[in-house]
Amino acid sequence: MLVGGSQAMAALRERLERVARTDFTVLIEGESGAGKELAAREVHARSRRCRGPFVAVNCAAIVETLVETELFGIEERTATGVRGRRGKFELAEDGTLFFDEVGDLSLTAQAKLLRVLQDLCVEKVGGHGGHRINTRIVAATNRPLALLVREHRFRADLYYRLSGVEVHVPPLRMRRDDVPELVRYVLGRHREARDWRMGHAALEALVAYDWPGNVRQLERVIERAVALAPGPEICLDDLPGDITQEYTALTIDMATGRDYSLRTWARRYSRLVLERCHGNRRLACEQLGITYHTLTTYLSEAGPAGPRGEARNAHAGISAAVDVPPQCLDPVGSGIVR
Ligand SMILES: Nc1ncnc2c1ncn2[C@@H]1O[C@H](COP(=O)(O)OP(=O)(O)O)[C@@H](O)[C@H]1O
Ligand SMILES: [Mg+2]
Repeated sequence: MLVGGSQAMAALRERLERVARTDFTVLIEGESGAGKELAAREVHARSRRCRGPFVAVNCAAIVETLVETELFGIEERTATGVRGRRGKFELAEDGTLFFDEVGDLSLTAQAKLLRVLQDLCVEKVGGHGGHRINTRIVAATNRPLALLVREHRFRADLYYRLSGVEVHVPPLRMRRDDVPELVRYVLGRHREARDWRMGHAALEALVAYDWPGNVRQLERVIERAVALAPGPEICLDDLPGDITQEYTALTIDMATGRDYSLRTWARRYSRLVLERCHGNRRLACEQLGITYHTLTTYLSEAGPAGPRGEARNAHAGISAAVDVPPQCLDPVGSGIVR
């Protein structure tokens, strides 16, 4: 089940639903762990082929010399002792055949696949005569195929065949609103943690984190917390340090009662968002909902560094990204602004 009520997820769901009504080949792009396979399963489940099989091929794991046997099957006794085997195309008859990480297919395998997609016909190894295929193709990739085509690592003709309809699964950091719902969903899947909840600060830290490994990483983090926390409330300390680091760096002054002012918070937060926007001030203003002038004012005021090393480092990184003059940094963490 595709969980998430964010706008991005609503748009994705709608697109998948529309695509599922057709029999076109679909190419799903998105970062690792973002939910591409889940999206492919959704297309299958909502299509008229839903009663047929959903067969997945992991293109990254396919052995070069066995591509044909894997995909097309092999006739009994093609060579002495060889047992007949059905290929993935045959197994996916009347259903959906999912090529996962299709960008990892070797060039030779790409040529073989292209031939099948053109002829809509497969022939078993050692077989006589082809068999017409009746399966819907869905492919997924975590690297933009267009880029691989430019680098001559993916055949352009196969790319055009596959990319009939393209679907992009957005990374989790582009739909942070979904994090609380995903947390509840994942907790609910573990019998021992069904009544558990994520503490307020822990949840805020999860929402603030950038999730390079997307939903898959979030699942692992929650499972780890379920294994380690006494329950029933998961707190900040039950999460891995690299996930809470940025959050604690931002809130440290509040936590230690050093500086409760909203202005200090706003200043730090603005820098954090600006860093996320790779120093693009206009974009940062848009995301923060403040004017360019306000942002410039925040940046020109030096913020006190946190009392901990990481906080200072994070601060230095942010300042470097936005050209705050070095004299604005507080080198000893004294909190005194020069
Ligand atoms: N929107 C979502 N709702 C619920 N679970 C999700 C969602 N997106 C991803 N997941 C889960 O995250 C994990 C990774 O998803 P997967 O589809 O395998 O990602 P990808 O194929 O893009 O690497 C799976 O366990 C999947 O069930
Ligand atoms: Mg996958």
